[in-house]
Amino acid sequence: MTELQKEVSRRRTFAIISHPDAGKTTLTEKFLLYGGAIQTAGSVKGKATARHAVSDWMELEKQRGISITSSVMQFEYDGYCINILDTPGHQDFSEDTYRTLMAADSVVMVIDAAKGIEAQTRKLFKVCAMRHIPIFTFINKLDREARDPFELLDQLEKEFGIGTYPVNWPIGCGVSFKGVFDRDKREILSFSERHRGQEKIKPTPCDITDIEKLDELIGQYQRAELVDQIELLDGASFEFDLDKVQKGELTPVFFGSALTNFGIEPFLENFLKMTTAPLPRLSSEQEVSPFDENFSAFAFKIQANMNKNHRDRITFFRICSGKFERGADYFHVQQGKTVRLSQPQQMMAEERQIINEAYAGDIIGVFDPGIYSIGDTVCSAKNKVKFEGIPTFAPEHFSMIEQKDSLKRKQFVKGVEQIAQEGAIQIFHEPNTGMERVIVGVVGVLQFEVLEHRLKNEYGVDIIRNDLPYSYIRWVKNKDIDIKRLNLTSDTKWVQDFKGNNILIFTSEWNINWALDKNEGLILEDFNK
Ligand code: G4P
Repeated sequence: MTELQKEVSRRRTFAIISHPDAGKTTLTEKFLLYGGAIQTAGSVKGKATARHAVSDWMELEKQRGISITSSVMQFEYDGYCINILDTPGHQDFSEDTYRTLMAADSVVMVIDAAKGIEAQTRKLFKVCAMRHIPIFTFINKLDREARDPFELLDQLEKEFGIGTYPVNWPIGCGVSFKGVFDRDKREILSFSERHRGQEKIKPTPCDITDIEKLDELIGQYQRAELVDQIELLDGASFEFDLDKVQKGELTPVFFGSALTNFGIEPFLENFLKMTTAPLPRLSSEQEVSPFDENFSAFAFKIQANMNKNHRDRITFFRICSGKFERGADYFHVQQGKTVRLSQPQQMMAEERQIINEAYAGDIIGVFDPGIYSIGDTVCSAKNKVKFEGIPTFAPEHFSMIEQKDSLKRKQFVKGVEQIAQEGAIQIFHEPNTGMERVIVGVVGVLQFEVLEHRLKNEYGVDIIRNDLPYSYIRWVKNKDIDIKRLNLTSDTKWVQDFKGNNILIFTSEWNINWALDKNEGLILEDFNK
């Protein structure tokens, strides 16, 4: 095995998703604790404390106590090199999350055992399903009152149309939570308030037929219930099928309690075995194997001003093949130029570190003088590949903005363009006008606030913002078409993006149907690649 093969095979790159408050941050933190990457709990996100999380770079995040941007962390565990992509749970920032999912090979979905599937999980799941990405479910907070586990599985199966395979099974919940039964190993991992995650708990081998031992461990009443449930599961649930897991058709389910550190180890142990090493990626030409000696990567996230003292902009790349070497010349496909990826860095839990090398599967952040856009490819010149673009999601809110002080025009244009390049907003203009007034489209309204805040703080520009009544956008796919001659309702607006693509924005779906009905041959698409 070459060094490249060895390094790539031990990489596991996954995103962690959940509805806010299900326990994603707590679980991430416990992973990092296990990997020895952090020493104290509470350092990933200190909502109420003075310690700010890795992901809370931006001023606004701190003020609001939410994670707007997703962060990336790497740690070692049991010989594996793990990259966790944290995703913001806040619904306004789902677009950033969607992009982050493009960089992951699998997903860990955290579900609150008392609440089951919630709105944000639903949205995120759809994206995972679109990509057939393997999904691992961690049902959290069993130390509290929870819903019936069968009901939770049923919900996953019905709502998501995915098979479930419980790797372990909870014994009670809340005050009567006794632990979990490992279905494969036939052993019980006992939960006790005493542990509270301070020490590693040793499982007790105990088959479901060993009534005496079960009674001793969990009591007669819960034993009877467990025996029934396991019988039912063994007889009626899906069989384990790794191939299906890896195609995203079957989700292994784990029960635990992140806060009390319960169930983290069995989760990691199984997850790392079942999830895949970095997967091949589609480029415009062919599939690119991670083991290909030639380096290639694509940009999935751009973040400006992570550090207030050094005005900087970092572009995050997911390495798709080969080995990255600091100082080497690479080729930026979209601009057709040779580049050097400067100040390459990785997030090691609490801090950024400059790195000299990285492998397929890893995520690196590089200093960006403003040349990269989301979806861009860089590669070794020998290996001119171009990865498929990341789709732009349809904005649902629009606002017309202009600078208050016309002398600040240059800063205004620069700010708006740079923030748009990061993918936080999309910008449009009315045909035949310049950049005096810009129409901004966002997926969630909070992004308007972020935009206003950033233009003021980072570019020194105050803006006037007029929200517009539109909430639907469609790209006109017909090439030679005279938009002015289309039969449209009076409240439909024609705009263009900065590539000159024609776009219609609508106030209702009814108006979209009108446009399609009254204009034969008109092709409208709701996202743009
Ligand atoms: P998120 O990133 O998904 O938004 O969730 P986060 O980890 O911040 O957890 C949300 C709340 O749920 C936190 O409480 C956290 O302590 C609690 N929590 C997480 N896992 C468990 C668990 O297994 N059992 C129980 N009982 N609680 C859990 P908080 O009071 O909102 O915040 P904090 O003050 O503890 O930070």
